[in-house]
Amino acid sequence: MTHRMDDFRDAFRQQLEGELPGLEIVLERPKAGEMGDLAFPCFRAAKHRGMNPVQLSKDLAGKVAVPGADLVAAGPYLNLKLWPESRAQAVLSAILEAKDRPFGARPANGRKVIVEYSSPNIAKLFTIGHLRSTMIGHALAQVHQFLGYEVHRLNHLGDWGTQFGTLLAAYTRWAQSENPDLTRDFDWAEPAPEKRRTPLFRLFQLYVRFHAEEEQDPAMREEARAWFKRLEDNDPKARALWKRFRDLSLTEFQRIYDRLGVSFDTLAQGEAFYEDRLAPTLKRLEDAGLLTEGDRGARIVNLEDVGIATPCLVQKADGTSIYATRDLAAALYREEAYPGFEKCLYVVGTDQVLHFQQIFAVLDKLDPWFKGRMVHTPFGMVKLPEGKMSTRKGNVIFLEDVLDEARERVSAIIAEKNPELAGKEAVAEMLGMGAVVFFDAMNDRVKPITFTWDRVIALDGDTGPYVQYAHARILSVLRKAGGDWAAKAQAGSPDGPFLPFAGATVPVDLAGLAAPEAQALLFELAGLPGAVAAVADGCMATPLARQLVSVARSFSGFYTNCPILAPENTPEVREARLALCVATARVLRQGLFLMGIQAPEEM
Ligand code: ARG
Repeated sequence: MTHRMDDFRDAFRQQLEGELPGLEIVLERPKAGEMGDLAFPCFRAAKHRGMNPVQLSKDLAGKVAVPGADLVAAGPYLNLKLWPESRAQAVLSAILEAKDRPFGARPANGRKVIVEYSSPNIAKLFTIGHLRSTMIGHALAQVHQFLGYEVHRLNHLGDWGTQFGTLLAAYTRWAQSENPDLTRDFDWAEPAPEKRRTPLFRLFQLYVRFHAEEEQDPAMREEARAWFKRLEDNDPKARALWKRFRDLSLTEFQRIYDRLGVSFDTLAQGEAFYEDRLAPTLKRLEDAGLLTEGDRGARIVNLEDVGIATPCLVQKADGTSIYATRDLAAALYREEAYPGFEKCLYVVGTDQVLHFQQIFAVLDKLDPWFKGRMVHTPFGMVKLPEGKMSTRKGNVIFLEDVLDEARERVSAIIAEKNPELAGKEAVAEMLGMGAVVFFDAMNDRVKPITFTWDRVIALDGDTGPYVQYAHARILSVLRKAGGDWAAKAQAGSPDGPFLPFAGATVPVDLAGLAAPEAQALLFELAGLPGAVAAVADGCMATPLARQLVSVARSFSGFYTNCPILAPENTPEVREARLALCVATARVLRQGLFLMGIQAPEEM
């Protein structure tokens, strides 16, 4: 019996295969539900047969038949359009009766993916720029897991490198006697703002001051370099300070990750982790005959033969390692530690495109196994209206300020509109996060974003809170409906939508969903699996964010035009519409969860 969307798809495909033997049948999703639920573009098949696609589509419409659906030739497309009740049945059963896994999820496929994201540099604070890597990476990790992959979430913390030379030099100059434990403000600096009275902020102030003074006094650069050298040479004082700075930073980062609801397999595989692997990595490059002498004894890998003009520097003239060396060591380590991985996604800004081209080219030379597996997933930088953000110059927007401001704006609205709301602080936090994270996802991944408070924290229009509001409104309807309706929207998913939802069945009579607005909503719900797959294919959350907005918007059309709890409804109509509400709530909550956004039950 044909029931679910997948069954219709299979039936349609089989029919087409019968008519077009030997051709690969690719089905698409039409842009709007009025056109149908599945479309077969006839171009390729028509070309193969030497005929006009419009004619082929007409011919096929006369021959193909799928019970419960009409076949409509629309220009060069053959559309399968489900009858209203079949559509309701197909979509609702897929969402409400998902037994083994949630709607849109796929069974474990035994394939391994590494997602490396966030990777902030220690001693620089978490800025709005880091949010992009963190949340894009989080969504990619969630979605791959949802699609059945074994996912490893890694954070290539910047806990090693010349910036530590800078910090050690600055600390010894201006802090070690005056403010050794970094608990007080410096007398030479603006006092730290109240909520930023943290050692990490004071490290940041040291860093900024050092770079400012270094502009006047280039000799200071040498001082920083010497400190980094001491660190690499295992000097106890340099080591002890490094460790303290790192611990301070980790505590602070962990707090932010907890707030964002983001977690990693480990925070222990940062750049410093690869220290013992640097020499073997250089040796391996050497043995492969890839190392060349560069400027003043520096060591490089030439990449001209593969079309990259700039060689990859792997060791500086003074013998210290660099960022690239540590990335090479990390990749080689991952090859061993996560054997057979299919992809390693590096969610890192567009400013590092060349860096990854170089790293990947070197890896390909070392071992062709790497080819195509290492993927840089670049994202556009966050700029300020006045230009680039720069930690060195101190003109940055801190992530926490953005989250706090978003929460405060939401709180003000709640205080005005719904002061009695239970748990309003938690709700304000969820909505504020929803606004910021969703805004990011709605942006094209690779285009730069110009940060302005009003844009990033917008609450109206195609925003997270708009989607969250649709979800909360549905739950309020379900609560009013009584019985266990509200529980059905949540059932079976205490730990978030990776568990299948259970406890709801498709009503027998679906005539209450015949109205075009109900049909439009069903069509948008059916788009979720495709949107989720598109996130993995395109390595960005945008398709999912857009789909959720479409669902929320069509819910609003349904809600306005199809009364759910009206006393004049027959029990059958009421039940069918409530079932559609349950399905919609599940899809919204699940989609938001994949993006790292929570959906409050009330707002
Ligand atoms: N820590 C670097 C930064 O903040 C990003 C690291 C990206 N990942 C990597 N494997 N290089 O710029």
